[in-house]
Amino acid sequence: MTMPPPPLEPDIVLHAAAWTDVDGAEEDPQGAAAVNVGGTLNAASLGAPLVYYSTDYVFDGRKREPYVESDAPNPISAYGRTKSHGEAAAGERAWIVRSAWLFGPTGHNFVRTMLRLGAERDEVAVVDDQRGSPTYVAHLAEASRALVELPFGIYHVTAQGDCTWADFAEAIFEEAGVDCRVRRTTTAELGRPAARPAWSVLRSEKPETPVLPNWREGLRACLARLEEP
Ligand SMILES: NC(=O)c1ccc[n+]([C@@H]2O[C@H](COP(=O)([O-])OP(=O)(O)OC[C@H]3O[C@@H](n4cnc5c(N)ncnc54)[C@H](OP(=O)(O)O)[C@@H]3O)[C@@H](O)[C@H]2O)c1
Repeated sequence: MTMPPPPLEPDIVLHAAAWTDVDGAEEDPQGAAAVNVGGTLNAASLGAPLVYYSTDYVFDGRKREPYVESDAPNPISAYGRTKSHGEAAAGERAWIVRSAWLFGPTGHNFVRTMLRLGAERDEVAVVDDQRGSPTYVAHLAEASRALVELPFGIYHVTAQGDCTWADFAEAIFEEAGVDCRVRRTTTAELGRPAARPAWSVLRSEKPETPVLPNWREGLRACLARLEEP
């Protein structure tokens, strides 16, 4: 006879799972909500303090200075709405960690996509009218360790500095020594189903929030990890 698994009694839950297909969420908002809200309720029901990774997409992007924690969310996409509702679903004993433009040496992300495209083509078209702070996941992970020593609440945690996606693509090619041109284009020209905030720069108004390195430093650290044998 097989024994049932012991009940989960975690000390802390780091909840990073999400429906992250921003365009797909427009087609299936209920599916996105089931994961981003329902899944968060499930994670919170474990009863342990929860780190909920949230996003700049809870904002509409109309501000032209960095969003702080006390700014009111106003998502402009189904993904953003479900992540915003997910923040509420995380409950009272949670750290809501809003970050943005995440990249790292594994998984599906902008740095890896640009390196792949840059190896195949002479030119890539990249939008130049969305501004944010590309954040290296290893820096966010280190900050998370410090954050869980702070009171529950919302924290804005992104790399220092900001750029457009086109600036970021150029930096990737420059740092990686890839010979590929960036053609600067617009969000309208790209014509994706979901609206994206034009201004995604976040800043923390809480002095105790960990400060991350500049995005370019994050990029160099990520590329160094990719080059490791
Ligand atoms: N990427 C960004 O720029 C960004 C910015 C701000 C905040 N965030 C937030 O940061 C977190 C991580 O983002 P990411 O870009 O690393 O996302 P990702 O690469 O899409 O990873 C999401 C993870 O969630 C898992 N997942 C999805 N649906 C699930 C379900 N129903 N049950 C269990 N696991 C499920 C996926 O598992 P499988 O691999 O098995 O599908 C995957 O491992 C998310 O909460 C996202 O909203 C991301």
